[in-house]
Parts: sequence; C-alpha cells; structure tokens
Amino acid sequence: MADICLEARDLCKTYIVDGYSNNVLQNINLKIEEGEFVSIMGPSGSGKSTLLYTISGMDDMTAGKVIFDGDDISGMNDKQLTQLRLLKMGFIFQQMYMMKKLCIMDNIVLPGYQAKIMSREEVNKKAEELMRRLEIIETADREITEVSGGQLQRACLARALINSPKVLFADEPTGALNSKASMEVLGEMVKANEAGTTVLMVTHSEKVAASSDRIIYLMDGDIQGELVLGKINTSDGMSSAEKLSLRERKLRKWLEEMGW
Ligand SMILES: Nc1ncnc2c1ncn2[C@@H]1O[C@H](COP(=O)(O)OP(=O)(O)OP(=O)(O)O)[C@@H](O)[C@H]1O
Ligand SMILES: [Mg+2]
Repeated sequence: MADICLEARDLCKTYIVDGYSNNVLQNINLKIEEGEFVSIMGPSGSGKSTLLYTISGMDDMTAGKVIFDGDDISGMNDKQLTQLRLLKMGFIFQQMYMMKKLCIMDNIVLPGYQAKIMSREEVNKKAEELMRRLEIIETADREITEVSGGQLQRACLARALINSPKVLFADEPTGALNSKASMEVLGEMVKANEAGTTVLMVTHSEKVAASSDRIIYLMDGDIQGELVLGKINTSDGMSSAEKLSLRERKLRKWLEEMGW
C-alpha cells in the first residue's frame, strides 16, 4: 500500500448561527494515499466545501485530527499553517482568492516568490509555461476583472501549481466552465496528478469525477460510501474515450444507488 499523505480522524465541524448549532461534518474518517486523485460528490449543502476547507487547514475544525504528510495540522499555529500551505498545498476554491490589485501573471507568480524555493526568474519561467499550457498567456498583463470566468479558473490552477504542491485541493474547479474548457482544466489536473501531485477535488460533474481514482459520497456531513475506479489503465488497447464513458456509466449507476 502506498503512503498515506492526508488523513482525517473523527473530523467534526459545527457552525453556530443565531444560537443554533449545525453539525456540518460528523466524525469524518478519511485516508488519501500519496498520488491518489479523489473526488468528493454529494448534494448541495452536504458539507463538501467545509470538508475541503477543514482538511486543508484553511478553516479550523471543531473536533478531531488531520494528519498531513505525517504532521498533525490540528496542533499547528497560524504561521506553521501558512508555511505548510505555501510549500505543500495548492488551492482552487469556489471563492477564488485572487488579488484584485494584481494582474493575472503577478497573481500566479506571487506564491512562487513567497515560497522562495525557486529564483524569481525560475518562477517567471514556470508561470509562463503553465499559462501557455493552459492557453491564457495572452491574459498575463490583464486585471483579474478583464478575463472570462474560464480564464480566471485556469489562472487559479496555474497559481495553485506554481510551487508543485504535494496536494492540490480543488472546489468545483470546472464549475464555471463550458464542457470544452472543463475538460482542458481537468486534463491539466490529471497531468499534475501523473507528475506526482495528490488531488482532492469537489465536483458536481459525473464527467469530471470519472477521471478520478476514487469517489467519496458525502451526505449530511457523513461519508455514505465510496467507489474505487482506479487509475486509467493505458495498456489494454481501449481508447481513452471508450474507457471514460465506461467509467462514467459505472459512476452514474453508483451515484443513483447513493440517491444522487
Ligand atoms: N461560514 C459558515 N457559517 C455557517 N454555516 C455555514 C458556513 N459555511 C457553510 N455553512 C453551512 O454548512 C453546510 C454545508 O455547507 P458547504 O458549503 O460545505 O456545502 P457544499 O456541500 O459545499 O454545498 P454546494 O454543493 O452547494 O457547494 C450548509 O448547511 C451551509 O449553510
Ligand atoms: Mg461547496
């Protein structure tokens, strides 16, 4: 068995609104192996974003533990968490944290400069490479309000990958995209995964989830089941389109059983 790079143990999250407590996550136990590509699916309001935020240390948990790359992040202070996020995590979140005052290129290189793993020249070169691959190079000097939703989403992916993170956390990374742009963004995430980045992604799309190794179904803050599809095998002679449609059918059937 591969090493576990991310683990939630009895993870709970309760929000208190107007004196009422809402137990959004209830004793989540989850292990993600190094190199895995895992999707989280489930109805709206089931706690998918909350799970992603708490398991990545972006938000605090009410109870439980999260072990990231061997370290218990529940005991970390803000400074340690910031450093961990910068060096080992990449994020594409629904509310995109892009800096409004910076152009697209500057947003992408910023975490690279802050991490100080590469020289500024190396960061710039890598950012340009990523933008070229994601076909947003022409937006480099634009304000973030001067690009389309899809271009902004791809810029977020480039920024998330700039420090070659150990784990990429993505909350509906293709949510705002048409099907062609969705498949392009997904393709880049698959490539990052093949290059060694573990991916934990929330998605509502069966087509997008069909490329992942494992799908977790969340309902009312509880894991209801999981479907293991495994990595797409490239040596059996079937075309990747055939394989994907087979995986998608299997996933759709399972989702129906889950009450999707
Ligand atoms: N900051 C917050 N304060 C209070 N309640 C919250 C907060 N964030 C989320 N919630 C509540 O927690 C529950 C789960 O929300 P969450 O955003 O995790 O759902 P989700 O599965 O991501 O839904 P969607 O598919 O619509 O994005 C919802 O009932 C929501 O209203
Ligand atoms: Mg959500």
